[in-house]
Amino acid sequence: KTVTLSVIKADIGGFVGHSGVHPELLEKAKGILSGSPLLIDFHVTHVGDDINLILTHELGRNNGEIHQLAWDTFVACTEVAKKLKLYGAGQDLLGDAFSGNIKGLGPGVAEIEVVERKSEPVIVLMADKTEPGAWNLPLYRIFADPFNTIGLVIDPNMHGGFNFEVRDLIAHKKIIFSAPEDIYDMLVFIGAPGRYAIKRVFHKANGQIAASSSTQRLNLMAGRYVGKDDPVCIIRCQSGFPAVGEVLEAFARPHLVSGWMRGSHSGPLMPVSVTNSCPTRFDGPPRVVALGFQLAQGKLIGPQDMFDDPAFDRARALCNEIADYMRSLGPFEPHRLPLDEMEYTTMPLVMSKLKDRFIDLRLSKTKS
Ligand code: F6R
Ligand code: MG
Ligand code: MG
Repeated sequence: KTVTLSVIKADIGGFVGHSGVHPELLEKAKGILSGSPLLIDFHVTHVGDDINLILTHELGRNNGEIHQLAWDTFVACTEVAKKLKLYGAGQDLLGDAFSGNIKGLGPGVAEIEVVERKSEPVIVLMADKTEPGAWNLPLYRIFADPFNTIGLVIDPNMHGGFNFEVRDLIAHKKIIFSAPEDIYDMLVFIGAPGRYAIKRVFHKANGQIAASSSTQRLNLMAGRYVGKDDPVCIIRCQSGFPAVGEVLEAFARPHLVSGWMRGSHSGPLMPVSVTNSCPTRFDGPPRVVALGFQLAQGKLIGPQDMFDDPAFDRARALCNEIADYMRSLGPFEPHRLPLDEMEYTTMPLVMSKLKDRFIDLRLSKTKS
């Protein structure tokens, strides 16, 4: 029997501003999901202003009924958000109506279908104020870097390495890289996380799914700035997959990600507990939460809030130091994102307003 774990998320109204989720929305989502005969189990949570629905069922990936259930849940929560006049009520629901698959409508989706092993530990990673490519560096560390994951060296079941499915989010293409042989080629692409994102990772020797992330880009879908695509990622752990601690270790030295303030700034990704997941300073810095579950016949045993641990205090302190430094740059790059990322924001407006004031130096005859 196969079990599908679907993590579907959306920002359908912030409390307060873009910082958190109001408890009434979480209660509403729980109420709807608990009445559904489609699910084996579910867990409703949030990171920052995003509601995350963690669902288990037997209907497989990309299932219309499951996606419909998530869509209906977000629509119902939007009603509550509107009643409370929460900020940006319904903002991630770009489509007017559901048409079979939630992809392309706004919410983010990561799904894995597994035959449960004797024991099936999984980590669900959820981030706020960033974008899907934010997983590239940690996924590389977890599945390709022996300085992070010693299992790649000393576990015979991992020694063969992993295959990485990388998506080109602009040209809508995908390519499979085989680690370790292809890592130099792969890094050319995944080192540019605004365009290339690791969608899935597979165990090379047995072909099994090891990790799956959400990769939609809302701005490209909506054609205007509607917030970053705060991503989620599911990772299987232990017995031939990375140990739980090897997954979490990838967040011990915080990396810079895009998506802070107005989706237009770079900042450190801070590992936090669910309770500490609401971004405050300059609407940030960006956050990541890791919830651990043991799957048992599809039941979600958990969660364990993995970053709720003093062992990550130093990572958080370093994030605060990096945040101070990045903030000191104000509106300058590289704190502010490069121009091509700003195109989805106000840049075109400012450019068109000023276009007559720009003098083309190649055409002007007088010396300047
Ligand atoms: C970043 C984010 C926030 C908002 C900012 C402005 O991803 O969600 O930083 O961009 O609070 O929000 P608006 O434009 O809604 O006033
Ligand atoms: Mg928001
Ligand atoms: Mg968010």
